[in-house]
Amino acid sequence: MRLKKNKILRNMCVETTFLNDQLIQPIFVSENLESKKEIPGIPNNFVMNLKESIQQIELDLKNNQKNFLLFMIPKDKKDSDFNFNFQQNVISTIKNTFKNDMLLWADVCLCSMTTHGHCCLFDNNKNIDLSSSLSILSKIALNYAEAGVDGLAPSDMMDGRTVSIRKILDDNKYNLVPIMSYSSKFASNFYGPFRYAADSAPSFGDRKQYQLDYRNKSEAIRASVRCFEEGADLLMVKPGQGSIDLIQEIKIKTGLMVGAYQVSGEYAGIALAAEKELLNFNNALLESWHVMKRAGAQFIISYGARKSKELGISE
Ligand code: PBG
Repeated sequence: MRLKKNKILRNMCVETTFLNDQLIQPIFVSENLESKKEIPGIPNNFVMNLKESIQQIELDLKNNQKNFLLFMIPKDKKDSDFNFNFQQNVISTIKNTFKNDMLLWADVCLCSMTTHGHCCLFDNNKNIDLSSSLSILSKIALNYAEAGVDGLAPSDMMDGRTVSIRKILDDNKYNLVPIMSYSSKFASNFYGPFRYAADSAPSFGDRKQYQLDYRNKSEAIRASVRCFEEGADLLMVKPGQGSIDLIQEIKIKTGLMVGAYQVSGEYAGIALAAEKELLNFNNALLESWHVMKRAGAQFIISYGARKSKELGISE
């Protein structure tokens, strides 16, 4: 208690501080929207059309939020013959508008594009077709890089996707585009609000054939080590609050920085409790971020990132 007397002394002894550029704000751009829709359970987060997303980013930049993770939801769902015109237009419009005043990561996955909402392609017997999944995921990554994205974030959890994305980028002169891999991603119950927003709920089965089993720690560590070996630049655990036990060990085993994705269900839990006046939203959110920082997270992806200035996070 002797070191807790007042705020100055407590600040002197603080162990976790962070910068708002370490907070990444997800944004959802849909091809099929007249006007924006708030995502249920995630206040102040919207699925938007491209024009609205530009306005939102402009506002966010004014509030010092400069780091974004982009999810794109095309109008037509397909299982083959994909094209990425919509996605390329979204990326190039955003980057041409804001240049290097912002950093744009794009989620690389198939679940918002396919008719069945899975993160992969299937063969005729409904088994995962790994080689065609990897080839289309790499093609997505290349298309996004061509459109000018700053970094790629593969979230599909197909074995070998990091190395195949790295290869196609390097072969096409995008060797300086970093990969922030969703390296330890569980088949979690906490992605509910997101799947509504991204129109990506699987129409049959679940994602347990490719996402990690939340009962397993060593398997989750191995998945991150594998992404490191395949050439990922940054690693990530997800759901963030539900994976804080993994971060330190992954950092030690790989030497890479590890981020945490505070997922939609985790964020909604805080928001809904606050709505019922059971806790103070801003204080609880800040606590949840510091907990992930304390566990060793280098960066945090959170639906509250755009509130960082309001919450007093320093530049
Ligand atoms: C796409 C993807 C998901 C999330 C991020 N990328 C959903 C899923 O895997 O089902 C979840 C994010 C969140 O819940 O906030 N594969």
